[in-house]
Amino acid sequence: MNLKRVLPYGLTVALALPLAGLSQGTALAATDYQAEDALISQGTVATNHTGYTGSGFVDYANVKGSYVEFTVNAAAAGTSSLTLRFANGTATDRPMDISVGGTVVASGVSFPATADWNTWTTRSVNIPLAAGTNKIRATATTANGGPNLDRVSLAAAADGQAPTRPGQPGCSDIGESGLTLGWGASTDNVGVAAYDIYEHGNKISEAPGSATSKALTGLTPNTTYNLTVIARDAAGNTSPASPVVDCTTKPSSDTSPPTAPGTLSTANVTANSVDLGWGASSDDRGVTAYDIRSGSTVYKTVTSGTSTTLTGLACNSPYSLNVVARDAAGNVSPPGNTVTFTTKACATDGGVPSSIATFSTGWTIPWGTYWLPDGQSALVTERDDFRVRKLAKDGTKTQVGTVPNAVTTNGEGGLLGVAVDPRWESNHYVYFMHTASEGNRVVRMTYNGSSLSNYTVLLQGIKKNRYHNGGRLAFGPDGYLYVSTGEAQTPDLAQDKNSLNGKILRMTTDGKPAPGNPFGNYVYSYGHRNPQGLAFDRNGRLWEAEFGNSSKDELNLIKPGANYGWPTCEGSCSVAGMTNPKATWNVSEASPSGIAIVRNVIYMASLRGERLWRIPINGDNESVGTPTAYYVGTYGRLRTVTKVPGSDQLWLSTTNCDNNGGAADGSDKIFRVTIS
Ligand code: GCU
Ligand code: CA
Repeated sequence: MNLKRVLPYGLTVALALPLAGLSQGTALAATDYQAEDALISQGTVATNHTGYTGSGFVDYANVKGSYVEFTVNAAAAGTSSLTLRFANGTATDRPMDISVGGTVVASGVSFPATADWNTWTTRSVNIPLAAGTNKIRATATTANGGPNLDRVSLAAAADGQAPTRPGQPGCSDIGESGLTLGWGASTDNVGVAAYDIYEHGNKISEAPGSATSKALTGLTPNTTYNLTVIARDAAGNTSPASPVVDCTTKPSSDTSPPTAPGTLSTANVTANSVDLGWGASSDDRGVTAYDIRSGSTVYKTVTSGTSTTLTGLACNSPYSLNVVARDAAGNVSPPGNTVTFTTKACATDGGVPSSIATFSTGWTIPWGTYWLPDGQSALVTERDDFRVRKLAKDGTKTQVGTVPNAVTTNGEGGLLGVAVDPRWESNHYVYFMHTASEGNRVVRMTYNGSSLSNYTVLLQGIKKNRYHNGGRLAFGPDGYLYVSTGEAQTPDLAQDKNSLNGKILRMTTDGKPAPGNPFGNYVYSYGHRNPQGLAFDRNGRLWEAEFGNSSKDELNLIKPGANYGWPTCEGSCSVAGMTNPKATWNVSEASPSGIAIVRNVIYMASLRGERLWRIPINGDNESVGTPTAYYVGTYGRLRTVTKVPGSDQLWLSTTNCDNNGGAADGSDKIFRVTIS
């Protein structure tokens, strides 16, 4: 029996059905079209394998030009995501052209081997649709014909229209620790999902889309709050910020400070950290924070619990620490006792990878990896299914969400880098770089320790292409976010200081150009081709790795305003005004993505070279020693390497499930490498 859904595309928006095989992170409604119900030219409907949906699948005739054509209706013109479910039980790719209305919109789309003819997988492409009827054709481009095709799914184009700017906010019912904020309603083509309330650049509260006021609680007495409201819709589009209102809470009537904290003690003193614990203070209205101090200089503020790990200490150095308690009115207790200790000896330079073990399995193109400030777990992105997982040091893997509005490029785009705000413990911000419909974006989300929310675009309009999307994010010791962007297969953009492509960008956590940038815009350095490796050394210097074209990959030491040569130079050259790399490789031996630094040695994960390069920095000089290679060809294509905090270990991830590697989804791994 034919179970084809007959709802015209575009009328299913309200259903928002989660659909197996739709590799979209968004909850967009999608409609399935079975291949066996479509127009088939040079192919037959077959049922001789398992795992298909509907009443069968199409076995393309093994000739060039065989095709399946789907007739779909779009309610409005726009870009849609087409997902094809296929099996290819041979070892050879079966590329196809995707056309709409006779125009090829994606050529040579890869349909690589699946494990066998009973194993189905999906591939997504973005296609433009006209309003009304569209004919979408998937045509084999080689003599092998197409793969076996089960069905296609079409997701409605994302809502691209943001709500209007909320009206002037105002404050009422102002008290010591709370007030009510009201504002003028926004309008939206689909509907306002929520209002986010910001104090300066930080979101402090939110209200449902139906509300135009919100009671703010837990405020500090006698403090001015600089408040704006931003409306967002369900697709994550955000309005311009409302006008600002400054409201000052009433002075506190509380004048009694908390009691001094109980005994402060130390444990686990390492070269750079110490564990601290103390006894709780009491207060008539409640303790709001403890400050860990040296004399009266605050090193860290702890807002929950009575223990913490203090990190970032200098090695082989004496410390004297005390702790005080604060209440909401800002009354500070007397300090408790002072503890003194000396951090352990400084780690010596060097070490080599001495062992490697499989640490985590079941990944599909893991891309970015970034540690949370507690050093106990990291967030890991998956490029093509837009998932974000928390991976803990003990190996526990937990999905925390997906990044909305992400799309693949049938090449190297998708959900790429991730970074965690150094102040995550107080602001809960995390950052992603991903490919979207209009280009690559840097976005900010809230990660509350268990799930992701509050998608906010910080920077968009970074041009995308099938390849060369860059994608690495890293916080510098200066607290600014560094972003590596590719030249989007448009080499001249790398030399254009007004383009965001082929650059290292440096920005604030609110998405503004960082103060002091060399050209007064986002650009920090330029002349890059496809940079994917960023790491800061112990001197706060930024090292970068990038893919060359046909001859040389580069490891660069990044200086603000410097020009790294692409496309005039690939590798080293002697052109005035261009900065040479510190090391180069033949692209067949490297093709580098992530880099990490342990004990003053740079480790560089290499895709095509299928190896981990070890590159010692020469002390504190601006030069490196002789690179050596590890694991050549043993684990496949290596993507990302990160230092495990508090240890001389690395996490090292593979990219074997992409169209270059051709391995089955779920077969990528993360290894743990020990340096000794
Ligand atoms: C086999 C397989 C078919 C497939 C064909 C091919 O015959 O059973 O399902 O389509 O190979 O190579 O195209
Ligand atoms: Ca066939």
